[in-house]
Amino acid sequence: RKRLAILISGRGSNLQAFIDAQADGTLDADIAVVVSNRPDAAGLERARNAGIATACVDHTSYDAREPFDTALLETVSDYQPDAVILAGFMRILTPVFLLPFTGSLLNIHPSLLPKYPGLNTHQRALDADDSEAGVTVHFVTPELDGGPPVLQARVPIQTGDTAERLAARVLEKEHLIYPLAAQWLLQGRLALTDNGATLDGNAIPATGID
Ligand code: GAR
Repeated sequence: RKRLAILISGRGSNLQAFIDAQADGTLDADIAVVVSNRPDAAGLERARNAGIATACVDHTSYDAREPFDTALLETVSDYQPDAVILAGFMRILTPVFLLPFTGSLLNIHPSLLPKYPGLNTHQRALDADDSEAGVTVHFVTPELDGGPPVLQARVPIQTGDTAERLAARVLEKEHLIYPLAAQWLLQGRLALTDNGATLDGNAIPATGID
């Protein structure tokens, strides 16, 4: 059986979507460990409630990114995951962590990448008068939020939307697409190539599968 490591920093609603997908059989994998960079992340409690091993590598105990990434790598590697899932993990990772997991590391980002890498994505979509917002699951590369997209989901922006309202509607989509993308990866259907991501050997468009 395939093994996942899930990395979080906070609430853990995407983690919960993985726990639920595993329970209902749509995700055929064990969550071997949930690792947080914050000891108070609410998602750790969700993991404990589900009987999943947890660990914390507190970034405030490290004075630079590389030593933090080295400790994180050691912790995650102990659980021998087949794939690593960043689920609201809010630290920038260096190649120290990224290289050993190249091609088996996914992130979810709350925008229609390549639009709005970084923070405050929903407010930026509103400020730009966009007609739609959304979310992207992508392979992680050293370029921040710049790895090849795998799956995207779109949400129309409604009159009177606030960043909070939009975020809530996008979040529902996140919970649908992220376990699905992880399942594809674990089944060996997804790959990271020099030219982007592939599904069953076919190139995925630069904006991901819709
Ligand atoms: C999610 O909306 C996720 O897309 C976003 O953080 C939230 C985590 O929520 N990720 C990023 O912004 C990554 N840069 P959760 O803890 O409830 O899953």
